[in-house]
Amino acid sequence: MEEKILEYLMKKKNPFIETIMKDLDLKEYEVYGLIAYLKQKGYLFDIIDGKVVKIKPIKENDIYKIPNIKEHLKLLLISDTHLASKFDRVDILRYLYQEAEDRNVDYILNSGDIVDGLSGRPQQIFELKETSYTGQRDYAIDKYPKSDIPTYMISGNHDLWWVRQCGADIVKDICSKRDDLHYLGSDCEDLMIGKLRIRLYHGAKGQSYAKSYRLQKYLDSIPSEELPHILQTGHIHQSFYMKQGKTHCFQTSCLQDLTPFERSQGYNNDKSCWWVEVDIDDKGNPVNIRQELETFGNKLVRKR
Ligand SMILES: [Fe+2]
Repeated sequence: MEEKILEYLMKKKNPFIETIMKDLDLKEYEVYGLIAYLKQKGYLFDIIDGKVVKIKPIKENDIYKIPNIKEHLKLLLISDTHLASKFDRVDILRYLYQEAEDRNVDYILNSGDIVDGLSGRPQQIFELKETSYTGQRDYAIDKYPKSDIPTYMISGNHDLWWVRQCGADIVKDICSKRDDLHYLGSDCEDLMIGKLRIRLYHGAKGQSYAKSYRLQKYLDSIPSEELPHILQTGHIHQSFYMKQGKTHCFQTSCLQDLTPFERSQGYNNDKSCWWVEVDIDDKGNPVNIRQELETFGNKLVRKR
């Protein structure tokens, strides 16, 4: 019943206690008891004016901590959406959020370059649908799919160009305007879901001579006490998986068509996402991690 009410509360927006009683066939004291249990486990719910409301998570000791009572977690890993670029693929992004809802995904993680930003490269302006900070911010607030599934994201080098241009982290600004999007920080941040440690990393510099090189070098630089179970990296617009020690590394590609700049640099571009499932043992430890890569071509993608 704990998992059932948790899934219900994640999907409903501020339901009344009476509505929960009716929908889940529960007595009033059972609803109060289950919510007290979830709060005791660390879930951020509260009862205000007869409604159950979700509270935005906060950072503790520099790590976002999300409680977990589930034996099985489903994640969707995406990256480099480059919204407001003329080459963005909002169609794929919409499809993925609908598919994530159909698959009962628990969390969606996005490892940066949410918007295309504004570089110092003169030709980039011709590749943009929106050229101003407010234009790109409002485009992302409007076009980024709205969902009951919480999304956790970091800002990447393209987002951070706005810090250089006008001193603001655009991803933090976007997330502050949306209840379903949570800003973790810029470039590299850790997230704990129960005992599952996840690191989101974006980075800078171009593509390396071998896909695995950048991941291996980065992994070697992480102190052993900080090694995550899942390392999700963005930036190079290519997908790749490897496991080193306990760490499952997911190089997440992009959701943007090849740009004239990438073409001129001889860069590859692959549009894809990782669907990840994690089994949790009775002590809360992640014991098994499985993944599926879904790739996309140049055709428009529609689900419903
Ligand atoms: Fe990117």
